[in-house]
Amino acid sequence: MAAVGSAVGPGNMWRFPYQTADGGGAAFVLLYLGMTFLIGIPIMVAEFGVGRTTRLSSIGALRSTGGRGWVPVGYLYVLTSLLIVSYLSVIAGWTTRYALDGMLHGFSSEAGARFAEVSTGPTAVAFHLLVMALTIGIVVLGIKRGIERICLVLMPILFLILISLAVWASTLDGAGPGYAFYLTPSISALKDPTVLQGAASQAFFSLSVGMGIMITYGSYISKHENLSRAALIVSLSDFSIAFVAGLVVFPVIFALGLSGQVTESTLGTLFISLPGAFFEMGAVGRMVGVGFFVALLVASITSMVSLLEVAAAAAIDEFGLQRKTAALVAGALAAVLGVVSATTNGALGVFDQVAGDFFVVVGVLAMSLLVGWRMNEPVKEIATGATEFTARLVPGAVFLVRYVIPPLLAILAVVALRDTVRSFFG
Ligand code: PFF
Repeated sequence: MAAVGSAVGPGNMWRFPYQTADGGGAAFVLLYLGMTFLIGIPIMVAEFGVGRTTRLSSIGALRSTGGRGWVPVGYLYVLTSLLIVSYLSVIAGWTTRYALDGMLHGFSSEAGARFAEVSTGPTAVAFHLLVMALTIGIVVLGIKRGIERICLVLMPILFLILISLAVWASTLDGAGPGYAFYLTPSISALKDPTVLQGAASQAFFSLSVGMGIMITYGSYISKHENLSRAALIVSLSDFSIAFVAGLVVFPVIFALGLSGQVTESTLGTLFISLPGAFFEMGAVGRMVGVGFFVALLVASITSMVSLLEVAAAAAIDEFGLQRKTAALVAGALAAVLGVVSATTNGALGVFDQVAGDFFVVVGVLAMSLLVGWRMNEPVKEIATGATEFTARLVPGAVFLVRYVIPPLLAILAVVALRDTVRSFFG
């Protein structure tokens, strides 16, 4: 459940719709589903396996599995986690603002203008720091059990809220064009390498693979646990929540005539379209809206905790720091980076491009090479605890990790690098 909590977060409700809009709609969704099954799930079991055999956090686990040469990859994971947690904190700050809007005076009628106010400036910084302080506090306490329990209650609630929103969205005028955009693939987009790369990155980001999280969580899993089943549960929950979020966001965008604004700030899709919808829905909308943003906030925090945990656990293992010091140092670094995202226009998008699009692809590529070519008997480790049926699937997954994923990801890493460089220079 903690892994579900890590996977389900703003990636599902904020990043997925925005990436889908960027990637031209339904073709992106199909590719995303394909990448989840073809790469995401095998890599997740691989990460669980590395964590479970070594019982170490990311840097140590890489060193023990692959040798010293793999330590820099561990540092890349730490860097990726810090970058991602820094801007997720800013977004969680926006989420807090919207939850408070709903509670105190209702959502604004001017959704686009309100987003412009909320998303940058001193108050955005203050809310970012508040959320980051809370995350640091949780990592200091190391409340593994607490997180698990929160997730068990929260994820079903979040899912119910999303389903009711999707039902409501289906009654809107304009739901039709929204669904058409979301669910009718264009063949040309299917062949665009940038769209494929974006879909792969989104799958990894959303599943929390490629940055050491599932290694760290895997180190806490018992030998009796069926890793394939665990990865399947995490991935299916994650995909369902993202998919239903799309069923809400796209009809709303089209019904409220926001598609123009969305192309200007696809990154803000969720934070413009949904509060707009909640305003239109009156009193019920206000209640549902508060529920939605509170649930999203908690889902964001369970994801942020897992990210900060990667950096903190590495600092504890590598430098012998106390948990408290480690969490504070890592949190302070992320807090500073987050201030950049909360004050500088466009910085958040750049960080997301570098870490969320490029680094995760490199991270997954490295993991496939490590488990495919360096780890001793990965099939045996991953199949430990599996049922007879799932044990039969494991060699297939390891085959993918060994022969299919590395060349495919090498190509996607080049595409991601090219797009990242382009986003810097224009
Ligand atoms: N998977 C989380 C989400 O989809 O919101 C965010 C996230 C958590 C990304 C942990 C990366 C990560 F390592």
